[in-house]
Amino acid sequence: TVADPPVRRYGGLKDQDRIFTNLFCRGDHGLKGAQSRGDWHKTKEILLKGDSWIIQQVKDSGLRGRGGAGFPSGLKWSFMNKPGWEKDKRPRYLVVNADEGEPGTCKDREIMRGDPHKLVEGCLVAGRAMNATAAYIYIRGEFYQEASHVQQAISEAYAAGLIGKNACGSGYDFDVYLHRGAGAYICGEETALIESIEGKQGKPRLKPPFPADVGLFGCPSTVANVETVAVAPTIARRGGSWFASFGRERNHGTKLFCVSGHVNNPAVFEEEMSMPLQEMLERHCGGIRGGWENLKGIIPGGCSVPVIKRDVCEKVLMDYDSLKDHGTSLGTGAIIVMDQSVDMIRAIARFSDFYKHESCGQCTPCREGTTWVTNMMKRMQEGRAQEREIDMLQELTKQIEGHTICALGDAAAWPVQGLIKNFRPEMEARIAAFREKNGDVLFGGKLAKDV
Ligand code: NAI
Ligand code: SF4
Repeated sequence: TVADPPVRRYGGLKDQDRIFTNLFCRGDHGLKGAQSRGDWHKTKEILLKGDSWIIQQVKDSGLRGRGGAGFPSGLKWSFMNKPGWEKDKRPRYLVVNADEGEPGTCKDREIMRGDPHKLVEGCLVAGRAMNATAAYIYIRGEFYQEASHVQQAISEAYAAGLIGKNACGSGYDFDVYLHRGAGAYICGEETALIESIEGKQGKPRLKPPFPADVGLFGCPSTVANVETVAVAPTIARRGGSWFASFGRERNHGTKLFCVSGHVNNPAVFEEEMSMPLQEMLERHCGGIRGGWENLKGIIPGGCSVPVIKRDVCEKVLMDYDSLKDHGTSLGTGAIIVMDQSVDMIRAIARFSDFYKHESCGQCTPCREGTTWVTNMMKRMQEGRAQEREIDMLQELTKQIEGHTICALGDAAAWPVQGLIKNFRPEMEARIAAFREKNGDVLFGGKLAKDV
């Protein structure tokens, strides 16, 4: 059983504590506008404080990777600075994952559109922490406007001496490159992304070795999400303890959330971690279309994580631990809201089809498994199945989960597992209705009367 944390009403994030103040291009996304909002302020001083100081601030802040996995950022950034790293003469890289392919997720896009200088300054600060010589920003090919805004910010930063040789006058040399992808979901996986920058097919590598040991061009690298990198300068300026004062233990800071689906006002916004989900939807999205009673379920972190039912939505907090305790995950913070009009089986079947399409095909459980799952889900959607095939479908997802090179296999398995766990009666009812109408169904989907 899960002990629910006490649900408290939050005041909501105050404007002065918002890191992303220009999310929707309300102001100028260029250098002047960025500087007027506090970006590039005393960056030289931050750089001169050195790698250990920056990493300590990030550790103190409790920041966890905002790309979906939630790995502690301070720890991850410190992997590049193992004792004796100076003797390793290979170049060192920061790689920014701006691929943002997770369905439902549209937060990094807003940063790059409206606040691209936060990302470029973040590259410099995070790069300094890792003693990297350059940052490669790998941006999703479809993000044309975002790519041009980021490129403009890079060019302006070079022209102003903020990056490049002697960045900000700190004596530290640091380059930033923008690399456009070509729209493959799998290139958001960190090692596939590295392969893609290297000019190869985007196929994930086995880990270990982790990128911190053998990364881009065989050199020590750290791959980090746009939002994670973009908050680094503010953390350094305002202090790790300031960031840690938001949220709760192990779930600190502010975060961008993106809400789509059946709310009155779909939105992307910055909010304090650990806010109750229900309060978040009321405060920022005008509540559920047709009222809370009309809610059927929510996917809280992009389409890779299990769906939860309304009763769980009423008590869950939007953070890593609370969502994990309730059998799902914060993922990217992309909340997909589904009301009673949604055919949940069809929705999850659509995700299965997506993973089948995006599988790179390297490992058998993923390549074959996603095909099998998709076929079975299509039959489940119709009801053309036997009830015991629901257990078989569950078993099939268990054969994929944890048995693949990268997390895409898990991502294909979890939504289906969530469906079976939380909406099994709907699946059984669909099967019963089909049988009622068409007669008995044989194992595998053929109608008994046709054989
Ligand atoms: P992961 O947990 O394998 O790794 C997280 C990070 O920590 C990686 O950078 C990894 O290199 C590093 N790491 C972990 N253990 C390490 C160790 N022992 N030594 C050194 N480094 C270590 O998760 P992964 O595969 O990076 O991400 C999966 C998540 O990505 C999913 O949960 C999903 O929510 C999310 N995702 C996000 C997308 C987006 O558009 N933002 C797209 C698809 C998935
Ligand atoms: Fe490719 Fe799927 Fe294996 Fe990932 S899990 S490496 S996408 S086949």
